[in-house]
Amino acid sequence: MTKTVTLIATAAMGLEAVVANEVRQLGYEDVTVENGKVIFEADHQAIARCNLWLRTADRVKLLIGEFEAKTYDELFEGIKALPWEQYIPEDGKFPVTGKSHKSTLYSVPDCQAIVKKAIVEKLKQKHGIANWLEESGAEYKIEAALLKDKVTVTLDTSGAGLHKRGYRVGQGDAPLKETLAAALVQLTNWRVDEPFYDLFCGSGTIPIEAALIGQNIAPGFNRSFAAEEWEFIHSAVWDKALEEAEDLANYDQPLAIYGSDLNPKMVEIARDNAMEAGLADLVQWKQMQATDFHSNEIGGYIVSNPPYGERIGDKKEVEEMYQKLGEVLRNYPTWSIYILTANENFEALVGQKASKKRKLFNAFIKTDYYQYFGKKIKK
Ligand SMILES: C[S@@+](CC[C@H](N)C(=O)[O-])C[C@H]1O[C@@H](n2cnc3c(N)ncnc32)[C@H](O)[C@@H]1O
Repeated sequence: MTKTVTLIATAAMGLEAVVANEVRQLGYEDVTVENGKVIFEADHQAIARCNLWLRTADRVKLLIGEFEAKTYDELFEGIKALPWEQYIPEDGKFPVTGKSHKSTLYSVPDCQAIVKKAIVEKLKQKHGIANWLEESGAEYKIEAALLKDKVTVTLDTSGAGLHKRGYRVGQGDAPLKETLAAALVQLTNWRVDEPFYDLFCGSGTIPIEAALIGQNIAPGFNRSFAAEEWEFIHSAVWDKALEEAEDLANYDQPLAIYGSDLNPKMVEIARDNAMEAGLADLVQWKQMQATDFHSNEIGGYIVSNPPYGERIGDKKEVEEMYQKLGEVLRNYPTWSIYILTANENFEALVGQKASKKRKLFNAFIKTDYYQYFGKKIKK
C-alpha cells in the first residue's frame, strides 16, 4: 500500500499561487494555499519529485503533526505523542528550530528546548536507549511553528533551500534568487520556441532558469536533498524520480535565449554559471548596453531585473536609463516586456502604463513586476 503523507511546499510571499500551479502540474490536485505555503497530500514518491521539480518553492516539508498548546506541558506532551521513532533512527541528528506568532507560548528558545527534550525522551523510550543519543547520523531538521496556539511540526526534506540548484559558481552584487527568477519566467506567456532576452542579466539567473524550463530540465537535477539520507524513505523513490527527470528532459529543444549586461565581468560570470548548469552554449551571452537592444524578430520576450537605483547617487542615472529604455522599447510593440523593479516611477519614466502589475519581494525589497503584453501578431 502506498503511504500518504502531507507535504508543505513553502513559498516566498506573493509566489504561493505560482508554487501551487507547479504542484498541480506535477499531478497533485488537492492543494490548499495559505500564506507562504502550499499544502497537499501525496505519496512518498512526491517527496523526491517535488524536491527535484519545483522551480519556485523554497523547501518541501513533511508534516509530522498539528495540535493545540497553550502551556509548556501541552507542548511537551503533544510533541511526545508523535511517532518520532518511525522517522528518526537511533543515530539520527535532529536540530530543532521554532517560531511563534500570536501565541501564548511566545518564547521561541524555551519552546525549542521543550520540543527537543520531548523528542529525546520519546526516542530513548522507543529505541531502548538508556543514556545519550549520539546524533551522529543523517540529519532530520525539525521545525515547530506556533500560530495562534496551534503547533505545526514538520521535517525539512530539502536540506539546503531549493534555490540552491548547484550551478551558481559566481555572482554579482544583487543576484536574483533562482526560485524568483524561475517565477518571473513562469509568470510570462513565453513559449519555448520564441526569442527570450534578459538585457540586465548579471550572473545570468533569469536566462539560465528560462533555459532549464525551455528544455524541461528538473532544477534539482544537480544537487542532493536531506531526505535522500533518510531510512524511512526507500532509495528506489529517488532512483525512480531521477529516471523520470532524465526521461522528461528535452535536450534537443532548440532555444533562442540571450543574456546581456553592461559589465563584461558579469557576462563572464553568467557564462560560467550556465556552463555549470550544463547548458554550455544554449544561452547566448554578450556585453551590451541595454538601450542598444536591437532585433529583427517580429516578436519576443524581454524579462529583466535592472538596477533599481536605490543607492544614493545612482537614482538619477538609473532613471535616465529607464527613460531611454522606454524610448527604445517603444519600437517593439509586438514584444512582451517584463521588468522587476523597486522604482515606483517606472511607468512614468518609460512613458507607458503596464498591462499588468504584480507585487513581489526580491529578498526584503518591495518590488513590482511590470508586465507589458505585446500586440498580437497577425499570421
Ligand atoms: C540587479 S542586477 C541583475 C542581477 C541578475 N538578475 C542576477 O541574477 O544576477 C542588474 C545588472 O544590470 C547591469 N546594468 C546596469 N546598467 C546597465 C545598462 N545600462 N545596460 C545593461 N546592463 C546594465 C548591472 O551590471 C547588473 O549586472
